[in-house]
Amino acid sequence: MSASQPLAAGADAGHGHNVLLCVCGGIAAYKAVEVLRGLQKAGCDVRVCLTADAERFVGRATFEGLCKHPVATDEYTFPESFIPHIDLSAWADAVLVVPATGNVMAKMAAGIADDMVTTTLLAVPEQTPVLVAAAMNVRMWKNAATQQNLRTLVARGVEFVMPVEGMLACGDVGEGKLAPVDEIVDAVLRRLECAVAGDLAGLSVLVTAGPTQEAIDPVRYIANRSSGKMGYAVAAEAARRGANVTLVSGPVSLAAPRGVRVVQVVSAADMAAAVTSAFPGMDVAICAAAVADYTPAHPADHKLKKAHEHIDCIQLRETQDILATLSAQKGDRVVVGFAAETNDLLQNARAKLVHKGCDLIVANDVSRSDSGFGVDTDRVSFVTAAGVEKMDTMPKADVARELLDRVVRILAQRREAAPSGEEE
Ligand code: CTP
Repeated sequence: MSASQPLAAGADAGHGHNVLLCVCGGIAAYKAVEVLRGLQKAGCDVRVCLTADAERFVGRATFEGLCKHPVATDEYTFPESFIPHIDLSAWADAVLVVPATGNVMAKMAAGIADDMVTTTLLAVPEQTPVLVAAAMNVRMWKNAATQQNLRTLVARGVEFVMPVEGMLACGDVGEGKLAPVDEIVDAVLRRLECAVAGDLAGLSVLVTAGPTQEAIDPVRYIANRSSGKMGYAVAAEAARRGANVTLVSGPVSLAAPRGVRVVQVVSAADMAAAVTSAFPGMDVAICAAAVADYTPAHPADHKLKKAHEHIDCIQLRETQDILATLSAQKGDRVVVGFAAETNDLLQNARAKLVHKGCDLIVANDVSRSDSGFGVDTDRVSFVTAAGVEKMDTMPKADVARELLDRVVRILAQRREAAPSGEEE
């Protein structure tokens, strides 16, 4: 046996994909058995990794009997490999953690690798989808630390199958119950299909995100409330679907999504320069950044002193409209813009579609508490020349998925409309 080697296919391995199921120590561990069966019925070859606490809830014999592979519980006694965390993570087409405890979520967010499951999770290749179905007591789930870890992991491209409300094992009622087994299995299959079908595979996608900062002097600037979450969610989803993604980001406090090339910029001028130089190689551009419309015309090279300099009257000049610039030179490429509005949402969005010349505007009502800057959900409408589609309030990750579905449709329509011989 070599130090690191491909693992063998299982006796029941069908036409499907390899899924690594990481089981943690929670009462919902028994549901992981049903998840395993659901994945197998869909044709997946499943291997299992257990934490020591998981084994106290469900014995390894149950998992071994079903998956017909040795179950990995520690680094030193795995019969198939000398380096199980490397070989298991390399073998997997998708990794699923179920049930994920608050402890394992915290370790994932911090990059701690102190047992078989967390060491394996740290070794998962960047392009391999990681899904997490969490289950825990409602107070543990709502705890600010867990919610912060959730945001960190989502920003890195980890997909959560969110816990649902219900009667918990401890008797408390609230959010924290493991999502239904079917929903977890479906989420994995959807990701695997995406990873394989890769409806954006081979395409290059440019995304802008975040605010820009416009210098008044070396210490002061003009900016806006954009958190960058929407653009980052779009970039993460495009990468998941196989695109080669470049994310041009203003200053935000978000981690780079998995598999995405991030170009950090500060001002609207920096963003315009980065975007226009990247655009020639792109198939799609999605402008989610809240670019400053105006910038100080004469930024000072020293800190202005309020006693004797004019901080109360800053002369501004308009910035370059990046979206309009890209749209003017787009040719067959698909260009998408956002419209963040507090009033007359659709009217303003339609006007932006026309005067910016893009293919699609995502209209976002930022006056709502469940939509816009800083929150994790949005209530958007997709506006094209063909009409308006109003969506319900949904997580930004779902908005990203819906948006890219529409981009894929526009690309397909373009290909169909292209005279034969022009198709690749
Ligand atoms: N945008 C851009 N460059 C700018 C300003 C805006 O690329 N200098 C893009 C944004 O990324 C977004 C779209 O234009 O996709 C609409 O931005 P928004 O701020 O809603 O509209 P504005 O054009 O700035 O118009 P207004 O502020 O008057 O609503």
